[in-house]
Amino acid sequence: MNNSFDYIIETNDITKKYGDFTAVNSVNLKVPRNSVYGVLGPNGAGKTTLISMLCTILRPTSGGATVNGYDVVKNAREVRASIGIVFQSRALDDILTGREHLEMHASLYAVPSNVRQKRIDEVLDLIALGEKADEYTKTYSGGMKRRLEIGRGLVHHPKVLFLDEPTLGLDPQTRENIWEYITKLNQEEDITVLMTTHYMEEADQLCDEVAIINQGQIIKSDSPINLKRELKADTITVKVDKPELFTEKVKTLDYVQKVFEDDSTIKLMVERGENLVPPLVNFANQNGVMVESIELQHPNLEDVFISYTGTKITGGR
Ligand SMILES: Nc1ncnc2c1ncn2[C@@H]1O[C@H](COP(=O)(O)OP(=O)(O)O)[C@@H](O)[C@H]1O
Ligand SMILES: [Mg+2]
Repeated sequence: MNNSFDYIIETNDITKKYGDFTAVNSVNLKVPRNSVYGVLGPNGAGKTTLISMLCTILRPTSGGATVNGYDVVKNAREVRASIGIVFQSRALDDILTGREHLEMHASLYAVPSNVRQKRIDEVLDLIALGEKADEYTKTYSGGMKRRLEIGRGLVHHPKVLFLDEPTLGLDPQTRENIWEYITKLNQEEDITVLMTTHYMEEADQLCDEVAIINQGQIIKSDSPINLKRELKADTITVKVDKPELFTEKVKTLDYVQKVFEDDSTIKLMVERGENLVPPLVNFANQNGVMVESIELQHPNLEDVFISYTGTKITGGR
């Protein structure tokens, strides 16, 4: 990111209603140029509806948005030329090879013929399908198909790539493999990635910034690390030789918010755990207690979601 005030997508109270039902409710997003930006939320939260409006597939009921500086309603054509789209419903054609899919897409988007082959080879390289390029896609694995779909969205050098649940239905290993390619293309292609997901690990690992969406509304947006830090809820798990004594003593410390005891394992809720491990060990020693093990756990995005909504993002890994 060159300039933190440089937003390639901005929405302005963008809203979509289906009859009386509001699927997307006054959403305001600012997506920094060249970031990987995630919209994280459970099924039915409004993710697909939101990005469909940004891709000019759906018209907002009210409010609006700009993508690459163009208005999604008034300048839909320019928006479309600026973006690549990889949506869940887009299927590949079994009777075409990987290369043929990319060629078709290149001609659809009028990629000049003198650069077309070079660009296709570049994309095949990026998604590591060079060797399988001339085989029919029906022979591809799930991960290869998904990579080809992503590659297809890249052929015409879009400024923004929209990915709707890019790893839905893939096994965990293939999912991590797709994460690598998304990170790589973000770094090598001078592109902004706006993706939706209901997998919190995906948002956490992949995204520079995450907007948490629930029931059509953005609850919070920030970097994953800030979202988690703001919870102020690290857990320190301690095993000691004298649990009862330690529990009694540790409760007197200011920085310990809550104490849970479970046999010889004690869980302490603290605000910021990073610097508390050595002092806790010292404190135990001073009170004649020996620490057998001590471990710090930070909250995850699921904890963040629960803290704001009171519910879980279901369907995670
Ligand atoms: N064409 C439609 N007509 C009526 N309701 C819809 C339509 N499309 C989506 N919805 C509803 O809008 C809400 C948001 O849907 P969607 O954007 O697909 O959520 P997500 O992608 O987060 O799972 C859901 O409650 C869904 O049932
Ligand atoms: Mg969806």
